Amino acid sequence: MKAAVYQNYGSPEEIKVKEIPKPIPKANEILVKIFATSVTSGDVRLRKSDFPPLFWLPARLIFGLFSPKKKILGHEFSGVIEDKGKEVTRFDIGDEVFGTTTLLPTGSYAEYVCIPEKWKNGVIEHKPEGISFDKSATLPIGCMTAMFLLEKAEAKPKQSILVYGASGSVGSFAVQLAKNIGMEVTAVCSTEKVEMVKEIGADKVIDYKLEDYTRSAEQYDVVFDAVGKTTKSQAKKVLAPQGSFVSVNMMTKEKPDHLLKIKKLAEEGKIEAYIDKTYGLDQIVEAHKYVESGRKSGNVVIKIRD
Ligand SMILES: NC(=O)c1ccc[n+]([C@@H]2O[C@H](COP(=O)([O-])OP(=O)(O)OC[C@H]3O[C@@H](n4cnc5c(N)ncnc54)[C@H](OP(=O)(O)O)[C@@H]3O)[C@@H](O)[C@H]2O)c1
Repeated sequence: MKAAVYQNYGSPEEIKVKEIPKPIPKANEILVKIFATSVTSGDVRLRKSDFPPLFWLPARLIFGLFSPKKKILGHEFSGVIEDKGKEVTRFDIGDEVFGTTTLLPTGSYAEYVCIPEKWKNGVIEHKPEGISFDKSATLPIGCMTAMFLLEKAEAKPKQSILVYGASGSVGSFAVQLAKNIGMEVTAVCSTEKVEMVKEIGADKVIDYKLEDYTRSAEQYDVVFDAVGKTTKSQAKKVLAPQGSFVSVNMMTKEKPDHLLKIKKLAEEGKIEAYIDKTYGLDQIVEAHKYVESGRKSGNVVIKIRD
């Protein structure tokens, strides 16, 4: 099968598309024929070994001290089950699924991947019905992160929320989920992304190129930093007295019940993955360069097959 493999931390060119053996599922695993995956900012961070100084050593111990342990990146996917081990009970051959490959030995930049039907760090569920493989593949990471952080902030109907960096993957899902909760959403983004954040449902927009949000006269019940580029002390200037600040720099956890809620919301048309660009597996280097620019809107898909 074809897979995008990287042997060393470094530039996008470290990733090479190669022929490697098709995996065979163990007793507790399913073999997923992948239809789509994505390039997340997490993939870029891992490929570059771009970890904050304090976490650099622990991260390198987890992900590989001298070279990456996981040679195939790709943290989320959608596809169809082609085979399964004899202990698998949650899924059948032919089921359409979506999920993550978090802390598994291999990722989803490949034509096939073997995934345990259940494991501690990641999640897999039946794909949302009526939603394309491309869109389903980009739902898990960004949307689960947004959902986890909104829960942490104890976000409630009628509250006001400011989403800083609303045009990224986490940001675009945070805007949509907050609207679903019944919050009033103010999105902070650049001039180029103003129309996009309005399109996904933001009630008000602050263009950070024209206005410093910390000087706003408004007060917010929640400030959600979706790109890790603002701070709690900046946010405090516009937070209501009992308000909460949450950030993508906080630890989050992937939860199966969150992925199930996301599946339902997608099926009901209440959330939709915003797709910026779609690349083929052979264009993985180009896709990594684009995501590394830090300017993507929403999500970037890698289409493995039609
Ligand atoms: N904790 C977790 O589990 C978790 C999960 C997923 C992601 N993350 C982290 O979350 C961050 C965001 O990831 P992502 O994939 O959602 O988005 P991303 O692709 O990294 O964000 C790009 C978006 O952010 C906007 N942006 C860039 N600089 C900005 C600034 N100074 N102020 C406001 N907006 C800015 C960009 O638009 P403009 O350039 O037009 O502003 C672009 O639309 C990454 O650092 C990632 O590692 C954490």
